[in-house]
Formats: sequence, structure tokens, C-alpha cells
Amino acid sequence: MELKHDAGIIRLPPNTPQNPMDDDLISNDSRNPVFTPAGASFTSSAGIDPLRRRLLQAGLGSAALAFFGAPALAAARPRPPIGFTPIAASLADVVRVPEGYAVHLLYAWGDPVSDGAAFRPDAGNSAAEQAEQAGMHHDGMQFFPFVTNGKASSTHGLLCVNHEYTDDGLLHPDGMAEWSHAKTLKSQSAHGVSVIEVERTGATGAWNVVRPSRYARRITARTPLRIAGPAAGAPAMRTKDDRRGNVVFGTLNNCAMGATPWGTYLTCEENFDGYFNGTETPTPEQKRYGIRRGGAGYRWHEHDSRFDVATEPNESNRFGWVVEIDPWNPAKPAVKRTALGRFKHEGATVALAGDGRVVVYMGDDERFEYIYKFVSRDRYDPAQPAANAGLLDHGTLYVARFGDDGQGEWLALEHGSNGLTAANGFADQADVLIRTRQAADRAGATKMDRPEWIAVHPQSGEVYCTLTNNSQRGAAGMPPTDAANPRAGNGFGHIIRWREEGGDAAQTRFAWDVFVLCGDPQHADEKKRGTVKGDAFGSPDGLWFDAQGRLWVQTDVASGALNRGDYERLGNNQMLVADVESGEFRRFLTGPKGCEITGITAPPDGRSLFINVQHPGETAGERSDPAQPTAVSNWPASQFPQAAGGRPRSATVVITRLDGGVIGA
Ligand code: FEO
Ligand code: CA
Ligand code: CA
Repeated sequence: MELKHDAGIIRLPPNTPQNPMDDDLISNDSRNPVFTPAGASFTSSAGIDPLRRRLLQAGLGSAALAFFGAPALAAARPRPPIGFTPIAASLADVVRVPEGYAVHLLYAWGDPVSDGAAFRPDAGNSAAEQAEQAGMHHDGMQFFPFVTNGKASSTHGLLCVNHEYTDDGLLHPDGMAEWSHAKTLKSQSAHGVSVIEVERTGATGAWNVVRPSRYARRITARTPLRIAGPAAGAPAMRTKDDRRGNVVFGTLNNCAMGATPWGTYLTCEENFDGYFNGTETPTPEQKRYGIRRGGAGYRWHEHDSRFDVATEPNESNRFGWVVEIDPWNPAKPAVKRTALGRFKHEGATVALAGDGRVVVYMGDDERFEYIYKFVSRDRYDPAQPAANAGLLDHGTLYVARFGDDGQGEWLALEHGSNGLTAANGFADQADVLIRTRQAADRAGATKMDRPEWIAVHPQSGEVYCTLTNNSQRGAAGMPPTDAANPRAGNGFGHIIRWREEGGDAAQTRFAWDVFVLCGDPQHADEKKRGTVKGDAFGSPDGLWFDAQGRLWVQTDVASGALNRGDYERLGNNQMLVADVESGEFRRFLTGPKGCEITGITAPPDGRSLFINVQHPGETAGERSDPAQPTAVSNWPASQFPQAAGGRPRSATVVITRLDGGVIGA
């Protein structure tokens, strides 16, 4: 989700129950260095020549800057065809795609995962029914093909879909009125993840949800999950209901995702602080994660005491993790993998190191937070499927420092190194992981402009990360600009990229540049044009390479900023395709009113593309109107995806080509 109002024009009053995500949004007041300290320059072969350095310092880090470091790999960045005619920005309440493409509705909020109850928007489904239906606010997702005789299907698979959060004014027939235990249960049941079976009719037909399906399941904010890795069982993970600290009810605020080579899904817990009612005197740990009194806009704590910090002080430590789900085994509990750290996880993008170790790239989406990666201790072995189940429990978590010289370093968050010692208040590795943000402060990470999705180029191995925006960069009392976050008042955001030393994802040094400063090439203010070649866009969020190396970018301009001010020519949120060699962006899709576009995945043949439309019809206040919770007319901006008069519903849609070709080619 857009963390609220960053380009923010409209805010609901403080403590408005319907506005749980609207907080100060800056938890990082650490004093770790913003710039690479003197003497920390690197002397590897990935050096950068003075001309390139000057260009970088001038903010011209674009694709035109040939990637420094491991130049031999640059030739391995082929240029896939981009064959569609870009479309215009749009304010229409529909999903628009280029000529020659079609859009099909697949799976909307309330649709049963299998053969359960149908969606009843006005009478309302019960919590139990909701727990067997699509949740709200679809986000990251992944297609897992069925494999027959060694061949992966492009017409039959499992689709894992995140349901990031709820708009309770829209979820319940009478909205937030008379908030109750039953409404709390339904709200919790509309969170989490769907696993659905999907099938295409023939090679070019329509996609449908297979019902019933033995794979179909929902994991909600109430489903029991296992806790594994170094923090499992730690004293800070134990609660009154779980004295061993290794079982937790539910996952929530599931934003972006990842997928492992062994066929599991990684779902990431982002803004978990918004569910917990803190105390008047928060601990430093709670403050660093934004947990405070009055911060629990979802009001679960009124009927479920584990979300009330005064009653259950450790429950919040059990959220903010990456969760692994085996979609092929519905009986297997999902697992929180604590070795990957605790923060506001956006996604968990997996790569393999040269020696087979597993690398997971992750962003912490808040202003001035960090970019992380995990490197497994052990190697992935396709021949030993059972051994891979524990790969994410043992390894090293790193945080990124971006030097001003175009070089960067991964700093290990390992107890005993980088100042993470008992003398400095870190008891052990479990403590380092539960307080990942403080550990990263101590290590000296670079404060970024809201790290969102991360994508790895399928041929070159270059890593790209969206930094969605940060209006506070360079403001009074805030961190100044630096080479990696070069714009003050960064309302449009940017995309940064790096190349690991030697092209090996497990290395601890890298070379980086800014791929694009987002903006509107027509803007009167030159700084707000950014370095965009092609179509205007801002607030990049979803990011994904298709198998041929086209880069897909999805936007999440805050509802209060859409089509106004700096964004007046950008229309509704959108999806574009970039050629990473030329730096050209072409608009491929525009969403309905008030939505963000997020989540993207494709079957192996690339001839279908699944994307999510999240929160269509969202108001500028980023929730439905709590003053008038029952009237459908409170959502006049959009009735997507149905005919006029219906409640807007987040939904998965599938894009196909009329001639059956590869999407985008
Ligand atoms: Fe859930 Fe950072 O977007
Ligand atoms: Ca996002
Ligand atoms: Ca976002």
C-alpha cells in the first residue's frame, strides 16, 4: 500500500479510526552515517572511472551510464523486444491496455477459493465464510506451474495472492458502526494469503479458478503458523498463549513476496505496527518500529487482547517477518523465517549465488529505512528437496551501505561483529534479528527513500530496487540528500540498481547507480522531470523482470495526490515497461480510479500476465468515509470490477494477447 499521504495532500484528523496507516511514518532517528566514511573506498576491480563518477554525482545515473564493475557481464544484458504502442494516461474507471491485448477478471475480494460460500456484498459474509474467500486488497502474488514429465505448464498452476489489509468501512455491510468481536474476526479473516488453483482453457483461452481444488486454502491473521530460525523460542518471542515462542496465530499486512527455487512462496509482513495498540511509554524497540498508543487503527485490540501491548507486550515481536508457504502441501503450516530479519518487509526476492547459496533481497518500506539481503549458510540442492526446507533458517543477514563513490558494501548483522555486541546492548543473534532496525542503525546502513520491490535481471544478475518517494528527504531536521537518494523533497521517487562484485549475489561489495529519477518529462520544474525517457510516472512500487528481461514497473501514487499538483498529467495508477539498456519507459496499463496497481506474475511461456488492482475507489483519505459507513455511494469513484452500483473490489486480472503472443514483446 502507499504509506499514506507521502505526496500528501489530504489527511484525516488524528485518531480517525478508519485511517490506521496514517502515522508519522518516520521511526528512524538514528545517527548512523549518511555518507560512506572516509577510508571506506574500495579497491576492487569494480572500480569506477572519474568520468562516470562525475556523471553520477551530477545525478545522471541512468542507463546511459554503462554499468561499471564486471564489464564482461554487461554484454549479457540482451535487449528483448518491446512491441506494443504505449497508451495515454487515463482517468477512466477501467483497466486499459494497448491495442491487441485483452483483460479478464479472475479473482476478486469475496470470491471463494474453492467451493465455499459466494460473495454477498450487502447481506455480508460471515467471518467463517470470509476465511474461505479472497481477502481484501490483493498485493504481491506468484504463479507456480504444475510440472508433468519435467515440463512446466503454462496453462495450469497454483496462484498465491497476498491480501495486504482491509478497509473495514467497505468490508462490513454497515461499515465500522458498532465495532464488535464478530467484525474483528471478519477483518482478520480478510487478511493474509490465498492459494488458488488456476487453469487456462487451451493455449489461448480464458483463465478460471478451479473449484473445488484440493490445493485451495486461505491463510489469515488467525491461522496457526510455526516460528523458525534463530529468534524462535527467544524470551521476547514468548507470550501468555505461546510459552515456547514458536507458534503464532496469523500473518498480516502481506505486501510483496518472493518465490524459492524449491517451489515455496514467501509472503512479507509490512506495516504490522498499525495493528497494535501501544502504551503511553513505549520501549525504544517499540518506538523504532512505530508501535505507540492510538496507533492501532484496525481496532482489533478492542476484542483481541494480543493486539493490546499493555496486555501482551511480546505479541508485536512476532510480526514483521517473512513467511514461507508450501502451496503444494495444504496441510503444512506456514513458517515465519526469523533469520531474514524483522522490519516492515516489502518483498523477498530470491537469487542464487554462484556456489548455490540462496540470496534473498528485501526492502524495509518506510522513509529513511534500509535495504537488506540474506545469504544462506547452506547450498540449494535440487536433488535433495527435503534439505531445502531449512535453507532460510541458517545464514547471514546484511544491510546495505551505498557509498558516494558508486561503490557499496553489505554490512553483516551478526552478533559479535559491526558493533552488535553485548556491551552495546545486543544479547545474542535472536536479539539482533528481533531488533533488526536497531542493529542496522548500529552497523551504519544508508537511509533510503522508502525501499519497495526488488527485481533481479534474469540474464545480467543486476539488482533493481524501487524507492517509491520521500517528501521529507532534505527537509529541516531530516537526513540530507546523498548520492543514492539525490533529490530533496523526492515526491516522484527513483529506481536504484547495483551489480554484486563479480556478478555473484553472495558477495559483500557492489557497484551501484541510479537507473532513473522518476518524474513527468512535461513538468515545468526541471527537477520534477527526473531522468525519464518516455512516459511520465511517479511513486514506483511493484517491480519485476519477465523471463526475457523486460522490466515492469507498477505505481502507487497516494490516492490524495492522484492526478493533482505534480501528478496532474499522470492520471490513475499505472504499469509501464522499461528497456533497461536504453532507459525508455512505455506505459502498458492504466488502472481504474483510486486504485494502485501491484502484484505481477506470469506462467513460463509469458503469454499471460497476472496483475492485481488494489483498493479501487479509495478516497483521498485512504479509507472509506467512516462518517457514512453504509452507503455504497461513499465509493462513487469506482465500482470496479462490476457494473455501476456495486462495491469496488480489489481483484486479480489476467492480460492476454489477442494473437496469443508473449505479453509486452
Ligand atoms: Fe505495501 Fe510498501 O507497499
Ligand atoms: Ca507495495
Ligand atoms: Ca507502496
